Amino acid sequence: MVENQIQANPERYRVLTGDRPTGPLHLGHLFGTLQNRVRLQDMGVDLFVIIADYQVLTDRDVADRLTQTVEGLVLDYLAVGIDPERATVFTHSAVPALNQLMLPFLSLVTVSELGRNPTVKDEIAHSRQDAVSGLMFTYPVHQAADVLFCKGNLVPVGRDQLPHIEITRSIARRFNERYGPVFPEPDALLSAAPVLLGTDGTKMSKSRHNAISISATADDTARLLRSARTDADRHITYDPVARPEVSSLVLLAALCLGVTPEQVASSVGTGGAAALKRTATAAVNEFLAPMRARRADYAADLSHVRKILQVGNERAKALADATLAEVRTAMGMTY
Ligand code: TRP
Repeated sequence: MVENQIQANPERYRVLTGDRPTGPLHLGHLFGTLQNRVRLQDMGVDLFVIIADYQVLTDRDVADRLTQTVEGLVLDYLAVGIDPERATVFTHSAVPALNQLMLPFLSLVTVSELGRNPTVKDEIAHSRQDAVSGLMFTYPVHQAADVLFCKGNLVPVGRDQLPHIEITRSIARRFNERYGPVFPEPDALLSAAPVLLGTDGTKMSKSRHNAISISATADDTARLLRSARTDADRHITYDPVARPEVSSLVLLAALCLGVTPEQVASSVGTGGAAALKRTATAAVNEFLAPMRARRADYAADLSHVRKILQVGNERAKALADATLAEVRTAMGMTY
């Protein structure tokens, strides 16, 4: 098991993962991936977190208020415990050599392979743009550059990202076969994270306004949870299939309290949806309080946040330059 290997030899792992800067991170991110990143960092692996500011252009024409969104992401990372002394936080746009890797990588994949990628297909189907841009079609190749520029060998992701990891592995393998060994073939690390629904009973997502942000106030959190969809049965149970909305609130409270969903359900008992919402609100706000306090401290001095990005970008740049030099040598392009 890869988990045991990480425990035994954390120094063998370089983890790369990241986020598109589309807005504040929420509880779905926290339980889905952020906690796992912090755990890996604390185990001693070398953690890289990319803020994918070019990838964000795949689903909108202009990324508005990008500076603010990027700085907000850094604040969210700091709030949850990503430690810039140990981890490297950086952005696509500040690392030219990473982006240049996309050109040789594009030559290693076929158009039909890209067209078959189920995650991209799905995103195209749900895109708010009327035509598919070249960047949308090829972003999994860009994502391969995100992972391979630093020779990342472990990529903690959700299930939807598996097709991208497959492309990354193919690119690494084909490059090595054609030009000689340069890249590792990275493994996905699937998080066992439970799926949290948003307050309207659909997938928690910032664009659906159904998500509880890490940075939300306690009052906003209470308001959002009060409006959450439930059902009419006053006896609260944990039954994700038959009662998805109620069960998601039960799960949310359980995750925040560190108990099982069944314990939450039986403690609310026949109190009905209102009692469940009160329990969930108190649990979420208490759980997030120290993170929110830490976030507010960092937010008071944004020069610190900018410094973290500068240092991360410099570190990423140095690695990307070294990898690109290796790539050019392997390809016979050193003039
Ligand atoms: N595509 C990822 C997402 O939307 C973000 C991302 C960009 C990423 N580059 C990556 C994830 C590299 C893992 C590895 O969530």
